Amino acid sequence: MLRRFMTQPAGGAGAGAGGAWLSMLLVMLMLLHQPVQAQTTCGFCTFNVSNGVLVKTVGGDCGTNCTNLPLSRKGISSIADGALTASDLTSLKSLDLGGNQLTSLPTSISGLTSLTDLNLYGNSLTSISDGFFDKLTGLTFLNIGYNQLTSLPTSISGLTSLTSLFLYGNSLTSISDGFFDKLTSLQQLYLSNNNIYCIDAAAFASIPASASIYITGNNASLCVHPSWPASVQYDTGLQNCSDIPASA
Ligand SMILES: *[C@@H]1O[C@H](CO)[C@@H](O)[C@H](O)[C@H]1NC(C)=O
Ligand SMILES: *[C@@H]1O[C@H](CO)[C@@H](O)[C@H](O)[C@H]1NC(C)=O
Ligand SMILES: *[C@@H]1O[C@H](CO)[C@@H](O)[C@H](O)[C@H]1NC(C)=O
Ligand SMILES: *[C@@H]1O[C@H](CO)[C@@H](O)[C@H](O)[C@H]1NC(C)=O
Repeated sequence: MLRRFMTQPAGGAGAGAGGAWLSMLLVMLMLLHQPVQAQTTCGFCTFNVSNGVLVKTVGGDCGTNCTNLPLSRKGISSIADGALTASDLTSLKSLDLGGNQLTSLPTSISGLTSLTDLNLYGNSLTSISDGFFDKLTGLTFLNIGYNQLTSLPTSISGLTSLTSLFLYGNSLTSISDGFFDKLTSLQQLYLSNNNIYCIDAAAFASIPASASIYITGNNASLCVHPSWPASVQYDTGLQNCSDIPASA
């Protein structure tokens, strides 16, 4: 069917019912192949994505009704200056930028102090500055999974309200001692599919026993500490750290 359509001469769709069907198919295919062009409204504001750039096309202050900004899978590769100005988004609780092509984050996001949910999964972030999350202490949900981070910004360790922290699918190699010590509300911690080779014995000591902790799919030289909570999910076959001579 597709091949027949492809071989139709241009403008040759007037040949009876079959032709009408084929021209309809042509229109459908053209619609499917349109570049991502989407408009999202939040309170008084309207956001557009044009040639990969997120811009605010309508509105200054977005108002108290702008609480949720769903911008996932919109082909966003950069964010225009002023698009996410913190003083215009003082009621924003949820920002979803997942599944885009961001390689860096505008510092304005770090001023969105009302945020409780921030989704950045599936972008192309290679680093996030250490203090990025300093003021985002209301976050309960943070997903940075499936990016290309080789280290974590230290400010994540101050997000004491977090219940879900997704860091899977990056290029992390280690977790600093004490990194999760203040994250005493965590219920989900996903560190799977990185290249982590070392996590210390007390790393999960402050996390509630009921939490799900995943460290599967990391470096084969990662060893398992007997002191870790039973809820930690790791690959079978990893060495027991107490079987390794204490010198490293
Ligand atoms: C925003 O996007 C909508 C829908 O794609 C389009 O009709 C409108 O012209 C765009 N506005 C601007 C200012 O780019
Ligand atoms: C917010 O939304 C509610 C319900 O739709 C509406 O009644 C109210 O006028 C809106 N407030 C603003 C400031 O737009
Ligand atoms: C695993 O970690 C070790 C360091 O302990 C490193 O030398 C090795 O390259 C890592 N393996 C992979 C597959 O990256
Ligand atoms: C690791 O080794 C210690 C000490 O030999 C032992 O008590 C513990 O049960 C072992 N843990 C696992 C997961 O094999």
